Amino acid sequence: MTTPADLAPVEPELSEAEKQFNDLIAADSRIEPRDWMPESYRKSLIRQISQHAHSEIIGMQPEANWITRAPSLKRKAILMAKVQDEAGHGLYLYSAAQTLGISREEMTDQLIAGKAKYSSIFNYPTPTWADMGAIGWLVDGAAICNQVPLCRASYGPYGRAMVRICKEESFHQRQGFEILLELMQGTPAQREMAQDAVNRWYWPSLMMFGPPDDESPNSAQSMAWKIKRFSNDELRQRFIGMLIPQAEVLGVTLPDPKLRWNEEKGAYDMSDIDWDEFHEVLAGRGPTNSQRLQRRREAHEEGAWVREAAAEYARKQAAARAEVA
Ligand SMILES: [Fe+2]
Ligand SMILES: [Fe+2]
Repeated sequence: MTTPADLAPVEPELSEAEKQFNDLIAADSRIEPRDWMPESYRKSLIRQISQHAHSEIIGMQPEANWITRAPSLKRKAILMAKVQDEAGHGLYLYSAAQTLGISREEMTDQLIAGKAKYSSIFNYPTPTWADMGAIGWLVDGAAICNQVPLCRASYGPYGRAMVRICKEESFHQRQGFEILLELMQGTPAQREMAQDAVNRWYWPSLMMFGPPDDESPNSAQSMAWKIKRFSNDELRQRFIGMLIPQAEVLGVTLPDPKLRWNEEKGAYDMSDIDWDEFHEVLAGRGPTNSQRLQRRREAHEEGAWVREAAAEYARKQAAARAEVA
């Protein structure tokens, strides 16, 4: 039964723990799992880190689609390594989220039940080999722009996971760039395939930075907590600035006729992003949403025996240790 005495007291003054938390944030220090933190900070991080982990895991699918059909042994080896890296990113991030008090099972259940969000970019299909290039160049490129500032996120385990992830992402981006470069130096049909992939991935990659700043409800709080360091629009602009010289080297055209530097604004002018499409995909109505989740569910069920075997092995080891002790 809830009595008035059970209700959280409304304290006019900050508690000692709260002051300490605020001081750590103000000093650009790190919050560690042992530290007190506001419930809203914990919840917000669980949401962000678990969504990020799910994105890494679901993100393996569009590229795994091409492992068996990569055009050479070298390309196959590189693509396999890249897809494995993404699995590793998922693992670091699930582990970071676990330090906040949510279990791996709970996060997995949320994902396979379709209750958790993940980056909508992975709900687009990969019909040609050039998609491997465009994903590496644009999707991993956007991920780097988003994630490099997260290396300084105020929550220690998240920031540290991001340092390692970003090193691997920069390799991913370069391998994508190199696939496109090779195609662009190939036959007219190869050049056309590369340009077509860039046309299809360019806009979704810009959407990866999230809604415009004036429609991004969680951003201000996230920046005050120093989880996020730059706004969605700032990061999107930075990404475009990175792409333009690289597109020139590749010889591809970014599919936006309005794209140009505006000296007065100190920013790029660009066409409007189709946010209706973004919201449709986010709401689960993208081209491959149901396929991605279905595959994830199957993989989880097919892996049940591995989890059981690992748990049984751990139990036997613990029993053996207890006997020795
Ligand atoms: Fe990744
Ligand atoms: Fe990646």
